Amino acid sequence: MSLALIVLAAGQGTRMKSDLPKVLHEVGGAPLVHHAVSAGRALNPARVVLVTGHAAVQVEDVVERFDPGVEFVRQDDPLGTGHAVAQAAPLLADFAGDVVVLYGDTPFISADTLMHLMAARQDHDIAVLGFQAAEPGRYGRLVKDGDCLKKIVEYKDADEATRAISLCNSGILIAPAALLFRLIDALRPDNAAGEYYLTDIVELACAEDRSVTAVTCPEAETLGVNSRADLARAEAVFQKRARAAAMDAGVTLRDPDTVHLSYDTTFGRDVVIEPNVVFGPDVRIEDGAHIKSFSHLEGCHIGGNAVVGPYARLRPGAKLGAEARIGNFEELKKAEIGTGAKVNHQSYVGEARVGDRANVGAGTITCNYDGVFKHRTEIGSDAFIGSNTMLVAPVSVGQGAMTASGSVITNDVPDEALAVARARQDNKPGLARKFFDALRRRKEKQQSIKKNEAE
Ligand code: UD1
Ligand code: CA
Repeated sequence: MSLALIVLAAGQGTRMKSDLPKVLHEVGGAPLVHHAVSAGRALNPARVVLVTGHAAVQVEDVVERFDPGVEFVRQDDPLGTGHAVAQAAPLLADFAGDVVVLYGDTPFISADTLMHLMAARQDHDIAVLGFQAAEPGRYGRLVKDGDCLKKIVEYKDADEATRAISLCNSGILIAPAALLFRLIDALRPDNAAGEYYLTDIVELACAEDRSVTAVTCPEAETLGVNSRADLARAEAVFQKRARAAAMDAGVTLRDPDTVHLSYDTTFGRDVVIEPNVVFGPDVRIEDGAHIKSFSHLEGCHIGGNAVVGPYARLRPGAKLGAEARIGNFEELKKAEIGTGAKVNHQSYVGEARVGDRANVGAGTITCNYDGVFKHRTEIGSDAFIGSNTMLVAPVSVGQGAMTASGSVITNDVPDEALAVARARQDNKPGLARKFFDALRRRKEKQQSIKKNEAE
């Protein structure tokens, strides 16, 4: 049986108090809607349709980047969840399979839960995902009769007895496409909100003797994001899961609660992460690498057994070879560091390649930007860059070459040459003593003037 996903993301999310559409707020470095679509993609759907409305163009642009292949349909007025699903009907008119409806602001539905929901479809026409709510609040309530789901009542429309039910609607359901769209066609907005409720299809299905069931999942999976506080809760849930997954895969996290991961961080085995390390998107770390405290990494690739930090900043395009060593207060951007090369103290290396086993001394800077253009620096293998060298790009330092400390290198250095590019030292005998004496006399004179004035 083939499957289509309809992901609802037309709502504005007023309570976020944000110019950014709600579903684009990020958890673990990826928009909420990407988490929702990824969850659904675990079911291997033939089609994925995203219903957009508020800031549709902005949402569609981002989703195209994160989830290529998603089809879009617009809901111009937010007339309710039923109305939102109806917008996908023309796209799926000839679709013979089942439809799973998901919410773009609900990022944690697990693949297992969706499998259970699908399995329930073997014995029923429609299956709805519910959960036992610790605080049912304003969720829709599932009204059952034995194993049968009779109807879903929205909080606004519920009487006291119905509000007392703690089995709540997650919003997620599965139904055959043809049945779903036929029932949705019959929805009427005669309720407290004046909306077309998707949830009303349950009662309509029962009225034509269809069988409807409810499957439950842990409440944590249904966590939806409506406010900044929810967003923070969602981030915490994401981080907890991501850390557990990393440890399961053989990563040592010395203090897991202080390590911040991204949705796509990937680790080899026996990687060690010290406390207080932040991973932005697109970081890959090979076996045995060691990331020391207070390092910040994004868009970079760390080779096997490399050591990074403490206090290192690796920006997009940093690529470390095996056994490379990046020490404290380094900034790397678009920089390839060769096998066993060392950049250990307070350097900036950008738009550059550092050859295998090269050593970049303390305080070295690749001066890669002239205010308009960016230029490259090439450092050959086994080169030695003296401390506080300014490499004014474009420039290259040959294999096995050396630069003298404090040099400003503006011309290419040939292989094995030593480049000295600084003023020669000139010692003036006794001049320091004379200079100090003059200064001290001046100070004494100033102090005696002050004393006379005070008397
Ligand atoms: C909905 C359910 C409720 C359930 C709750 C779970 C209905 C009528 N109610 O209520 O039973 O307990 O979710 O969180 O379905 N959306 C659109 N277009 C619209 C309206 C909504 O795309 O016109 C999208 C929203 O962007 C959101 C999702 O649908 O992603 C849910 O909408 P929301 O307004 O949050 O529904 P609730 O009132 O919370
Ligand atoms: Ca909601």
